[in-house]
Amino acid sequence: MLEAAADILRRGGLVAVPTETVYGLAADATNDLAVAQIFKAKGRPSFNPLIVHVLTKEDAASHAIFSQKALQLAQAFWPGPLTLVLPRKPESQLSHLVSAGLDTIALRAPAHPVARLLLKKFGSIFAAPSANPSGAISPTTAEHVVSGLGDKVDMILDGGPCEIGVESTIVSVLDDKVTLLRPGGISLEKLENVIGEVAIHAHSSDEAIQAPGMMTSHYAPKTRVRLMAKPKNQDGVFLGFGEVEGAGAHDLNLSPAGDLTEAAANLFSYLHQLDALGHDIYVAPVPVKGLGVAINDRLARAAADKTDD
Ligand code: TXA
Ligand code: MG
Repeated sequence: MLEAAADILRRGGLVAVPTETVYGLAADATNDLAVAQIFKAKGRPSFNPLIVHVLTKEDAASHAIFSQKALQLAQAFWPGPLTLVLPRKPESQLSHLVSAGLDTIALRAPAHPVARLLLKKFGSIFAAPSANPSGAISPTTAEHVVSGLGDKVDMILDGGPCEIGVESTIVSVLDDKVTLLRPGGISLEKLENVIGEVAIHAHSSDEAIQAPGMMTSHYAPKTRVRLMAKPKNQDGVFLGFGEVEGAGAHDLNLSPAGDLTEAAANLFSYLHQLDALGHDIYVAPVPVKGLGVAINDRLARAAADKTDD
């Protein structure tokens, strides 16, 4: 299976691969045509750059310049759900389509054993955005990939449900300044414990897109999502967090115990399930701390008007 998947990558094809965050849609990061297939399969705007997945920071260092702070972050969090945006080395053989023409590249060493085995068998590096149609809910199971992308993918490796369930945290480390571009699987608190103060990227609509995953409408279900809701909405389904009284037959709870790690792992899967019912989705408040920052970020995007992606 893994050998066949590595062969598909070598021939320029697409493989959906489980990572600890969400399923990725992988293609050879050095092959322009292969990378173009990713954009085509996802219906993704071509200006939106992709994350390059590597086994080790040594592999990453042949493509990007690691400052002392970048090294420290890779040392602390790789393999794992942290993506580093770093200056691209001029001699890097990466497809320029991967970084959408920018002079920086996004790199991460995934922790999932299947993703790591695929990198080993392939013997090179792959680009992989989340394996969903552009703007739709991210996939945390192989079934989500099948229903979103179906036969647009040459092979789907099934690694069961993703453990973390929200995408990686993205930080840029440029001129020795660390800036959070997307909250994700590693909390700001954990980052700052290792590296000291991290700047927060203030998103404004008129500036050049730095991490277009920050586009307002993203992770959007087909139905309406309403935030900060209370249970017992007659005209919709309820997605709870913590103790909920009087749950309806179709209601779900991200974590009855109020555990943010469990809630992150369930988030996309439950949005997929509730979306399939076709009713509006009412979501309980989720605390904005630790992994809750990433959860609230994804919920806000799911609730935003679907006009810009
Ligand atoms: O957990 C994850 O990060 C998953 C798994 C598959 O690894 N991948 C993922 O990829 O979420 P994607 O393509 O859905 O999100 C990548 C984000 C986008 O928001 C993109 O704009 C940003 O990374 N990005 C990529 N290269 C960048 C760069 N050079 N500068 C700034 N942002 C960049
Ligand atoms: Mg995505």
